[in-house]
Amino acid sequence: MDDTLIHYLRGMEAMLKQIEACQNEIRQFTAQDAEALEQFRIRFLGVKGIIKSMMGEMKLVPVDQKKSFGQVMNSFKLLAEEKFESEKSRLSSGSSSEQRDIDITLPGHPLSTGSRHPVTLMRNRIVEIFQRLSFTVAEGPEIEDDWHNFTALNLDEHHPARDMQDTFYLSTDPAILLRTHTSNVQIREMERTQPPIRIICPGRVYRNETISARSHCFFHQVEGLYIDTNVSFADLKQTLYFFVKEMFGDDVNVRFRPSYFPFTEPSAEMDISCMLCKGEGCAVCKRTGWLEILGCGMVHPNVLKNCGIDPETYTGFAFGMGIERPALLKYGITDIRLFSENDVRFLEQFTGA
Ligand code: DAH
Repeated sequence: MDDTLIHYLRGMEAMLKQIEACQNEIRQFTAQDAEALEQFRIRFLGVKGIIKSMMGEMKLVPVDQKKSFGQVMNSFKLLAEEKFESEKSRLSSGSSSEQRDIDITLPGHPLSTGSRHPVTLMRNRIVEIFQRLSFTVAEGPEIEDDWHNFTALNLDEHHPARDMQDTFYLSTDPAILLRTHTSNVQIREMERTQPPIRIICPGRVYRNETISARSHCFFHQVEGLYIDTNVSFADLKQTLYFFVKEMFGDDVNVRFRPSYFPFTEPSAEMDISCMLCKGEGCAVCKRTGWLEILGCGMVHPNVLKNCGIDPETYTGFAFGMGIERPALLKYGITDIRLFSENDVRFLEQFTGA
């Protein structure tokens, strides 16, 4: 053997030893974190890493040994690559030893459960009472046309409720508006189907009013409608008496005052005795002992006609009430703006279904 060959073989032996040492190191390697893994990659698989530089030696290997040396290098490289991939996925699946050290016996973070909005609670209570009288829930659009919000309800063109100050109209199309009351749903239901109709319609309504503690530019209403043969004002009163007793309790008194709505004839407003002062008179009832709760009446024949229902055959009653007002009374809230401010400290005080 000549000197160069001996020298070369010694070199090869040293290299194989180095490869073996590296392979042991790789097998035992676990990455503590992403940084350690990157160091690993640079050291073995990087452009200036161990494997690349050893591959560079390939050209010095005699032809008859190239194949076996190549195989050694390939399995070396494969080992490093597999280790890199497996460590990488282990770190990204969050099972690094760092995270495995978490003390699983520690108490967890308590889950905070949400609560229903007071307006939702009040709406559900109202709806549930009328459902017991066989009313079903109907809904309609908040973006409405003039016909369903006004004209079909017997509100002629010059009625003050159409005043630009009260109604939000679409600037691009003044025939479209945000509904000012849930009475639009009566019209849609009467157009859709023939009597008997017995519906309750909860929903949000909009009016162009200055926001204050007592009024807002949007609020909620529940509309009721009952159309059939022989429906009388006595039926209306009895239905509302039942509602008041269920809602506010047996000792609350009720009174009807004559009123005017274009869509009902005759029309009335219903008051209940103030539950705060028991009718004695206080700041909430403005010393009258009474609280106004809703508007109601017998559906105007023109409204029935507008919806294709024969007023000679059918009669009916309707009523509409706000939801915020009874909620203010029930929960003793003094500022209506709290309902829409989304302050969790306010909202989490209400419980119920
Ligand atoms: N739509 C009326 C309002 O917003 C409330 C109302 C009154 C509805 C009388 C009715 C009714 O159905 O008969 O003030």
